[in-house]
Amino acid sequence: MCGIVGYVGQRSALDVVVGGLRRLEYRGYDSGGVALVTADGLATAKKAGKLVNLDAELEARPLPHATTGIGHTRWATHGAPNDVNAHPHVDDTGRVAVVHNGIIENFAELRAELEADGHELVSETDTEVVSHLVADRLAAGEPLPQAVHTVCRRLEGAFTLVICDAQTPGVVVGARRNSPLVVGRGDGENFLGSDVAAFIEFTRDAIELGQDQVVVITADDIVVTDFDGAPSPTRDYHVDWDLSAAEKGGYDWFMLKEIAEQPQAVADTLLGRHSSDGLLQLDEMRLSDDELRNVDKIIAIACGTSYYAAMVAKYAIEHWTRIPVEVELASEFRYRDPILDRSTLVVTISQSGETMDTLMAIRYARQQRARVLSICNTNGSTIPRESDAVLYTHAGPEVAVASTKGFLAQVVACYLLGLYLAQVKGVKYGDEIRRIVDDLEATPAAIQRVLDDAEEVRKIASALAGSRSILFLGRHVGYPVALEGALKLKELAYLHAEGFAAGELKHGPIAVIEEGVPVFVVVPPKGRDQLQEKIISNIQEIRARGARTIVLVDENEVDAVSAFADHIIRLPRVPTLFQPLVATVPLQIFACEFAAQLGHDVDQPRNLAKSVTVE
Ligand code: M6R
Repeated sequence: MCGIVGYVGQRSALDVVVGGLRRLEYRGYDSGGVALVTADGLATAKKAGKLVNLDAELEARPLPHATTGIGHTRWATHGAPNDVNAHPHVDDTGRVAVVHNGIIENFAELRAELEADGHELVSETDTEVVSHLVADRLAAGEPLPQAVHTVCRRLEGAFTLVICDAQTPGVVVGARRNSPLVVGRGDGENFLGSDVAAFIEFTRDAIELGQDQVVVITADDIVVTDFDGAPSPTRDYHVDWDLSAAEKGGYDWFMLKEIAEQPQAVADTLLGRHSSDGLLQLDEMRLSDDELRNVDKIIAIACGTSYYAAMVAKYAIEHWTRIPVEVELASEFRYRDPILDRSTLVVTISQSGETMDTLMAIRYARQQRARVLSICNTNGSTIPRESDAVLYTHAGPEVAVASTKGFLAQVVACYLLGLYLAQVKGVKYGDEIRRIVDDLEATPAAIQRVLDDAEEVRKIASALAGSRSILFLGRHVGYPVALEGALKLKELAYLHAEGFAAGELKHGPIAVIEEGVPVFVVVPPKGRDQLQEKIISNIQEIRARGARTIVLVDENEVDAVSAFADHIIRLPRVPTLFQPLVATVPLQIFACEFAAQLGHDVDQPRNLAKSVTVE
């Protein structure tokens, strides 16, 4: 949450910083602000609301030219989202400007101490104390980097800080503990950002910072130390996507672009995963086959949409490997005293790689000696760095707050993990695995067909305009799909939406069915298990009570449901376990379309942020 940018170089710092904030706005959009180090001291501008408000402020009151600057786009934690609480926060001498992501837990005590010393603090934020504390250290004669070290050692909680000082031109200092910060290495210029999108326009060479590190950037140098000022190791990496991936590319919404990119995201996540003789290879994973052979229990942990990917994983991994899989919300995991040991594999799933609940679950699991494998879409992020093993998804940057291509790529990574475990444990023959992988490799084309048929879904969104509540039903892997369909609609359309296991309806929720309530039903393909027959009975039960049914069904099996469906969404034929890859897509399109019709900002829904870096 919150997007942070820092710049030192030869360009207009204002242009670089505001451009970076625009690409980080998905991280929070309660307010925006900048601070520049000019020849005449600090120049700042900040405004509540989205960045367009800051743009208007900068137009009305232009700032002087500067080549050193910092900026912030906020997701509010401490203090209402107003102009005063917007970052940057400047100390009462006007010398030090600070932007912050995270929560400083001991801020009340620090604030009391500063006020007792005569400092005047003007905002309700936890952040403001930092500018005063740093200014005090500077006044005591410490240079800016040392002042930041001293102050960081006093802070508790989670923080990324980016700081500039009016009397130290050409220098920006960043610090990180439990919140993201990456460095962009330029030529005669250097950058800081909450993620690489902040500076992708200028460089794709990045440095991943570790925990409790301070980075000092000038135009020509980058120096990383720990909080005591001792040199500290980092990892350089090259970003494998460019500016075009972080822009809308002609689509009305990032979400629409990202939905359209799903065939590619799935194909890229599958790319290079097997040798010419058909053996799966997950080279990047950092866990040996021996270690994997010893796994006797898996706990899959995640939040939100990623949690639904974990639910899908359970069906697939248990089916292929016979290893029991528990699925757990990251925010609940460590509070229930879970049973873990060296043979437990904890699989965490996170698109951003920064979700604090998931990170805390990882730390807990590792303390308990379990091995942690993370499925993650973001190179350089905290979660893969703190895990024993990583399986990257290759969906490219996901900008819209609502996850779409990130989810499909996660589901694919879970399938790959399940099949790989089956291979190393020897519980499936090689040719069986090869056939399943062939089916998986056919899914991008099937997803593309769903996208090509999106017009029918848009018509349904128009037909359901005015609905106050929409339900989603599924069985087996269709159940997490139903949950995901409901989550997408809640977060984008601010509407009551719920997903249920279809068989569970009769145990209570069926009471909410009344005349005209729209109910989406994900029908599993026909198989040996009678799942399809069972869900068709469920459709009849709700239809008999007045529900308006929207049925997602294999295009070859439409006849089985047409008598009970008010609307039909045809899905390409795929094996049952892979149905989430095609069935989720119409529900994403529906939620996007439905929200857009209501006039909502699809990419930046209210109250939300893309990376949830607080617990
Ligand atoms: O980055 P992560 O995958 O860890 O994020 C987890 C959730 O916060 C995320 O999936 C959230 O539920 C999305 N906004 C859903 O669209």
